[in-house]
Amino acid sequence: MSDALKTLNGTLAAVWSRLEAGATDTNAPANLPVLATSSAKRGPAARIVVLRGVDRAASMLTMFTHAGATKVADLKNDERAELLIWDAPERFQIRLSVTIELIEVDAATWQLLGPGTRLNYAVDPSPGTPIDKPEDAWHATPELHQMLKLQTTIHRIETLHIAPDGLRRAVFEGDTSQWIAP
Ligand SMILES: Cc1cc2nc3c(=O)[nH]c(=O)nc-3n(C[C@H](O)[C@H](O)[C@H](O)COP(=O)(O)O)c2cc1C
Repeated sequence: MSDALKTLNGTLAAVWSRLEAGATDTNAPANLPVLATSSAKRGPAARIVVLRGVDRAASMLTMFTHAGATKVADLKNDERAELLIWDAPERFQIRLSVTIELIEVDAATWQLLGPGTRLNYAVDPSPGTPIDKPEDAWHATPELHQMLKLQTTIHRIETLHIAPDGLRRAVFEGDTSQWIAP
């Protein structure tokens, strides 16, 4: 077990180092967070997304999605969401309370993404459309307007460490940090 997780400062630093690893290392636990949204009409919805960018100074994360996805409709209804990460080897849960702004992808970002990544977010027809067979959606028309950046601001971080000597749960909000009962 990492001694860093015995202190609040160490725990917060561990969160950010995991997030930063998640944006660059496809094997890192934070590369595939669960994104949970909700809407008055559909209720809660959770799904995996790829973490694409981390800006610690601004407390911001970046993901991408298809503009026609249900999560986009949810976020238009309620910008609040949660991201959940489980670092299994460290037995460390990270829960992020966020708000997500939907940003159109600009031409420069579009170029940087590369053709493979663009294909992932350009499924034709739009996600969730009923089709006769899976193959009917195995083509894609990557177009700028089909893709959105999920510009994510972190407002609260909650951690739970399942340590051999006992549970440690902490909350970080603004400049405050606090242990809380698990
Ligand atoms: C490993 C993995 C990575 C995924 N990455 C993304 C992603 O970056 N963005 C995205 O919109 N969906 C991603 N998905 C698909 C979503 O989990 C989800 O099935 C899809 O976006 C439809 O969600 P929605 O209808 O709730 O919007 C990923 C799924 C898996 C299994």
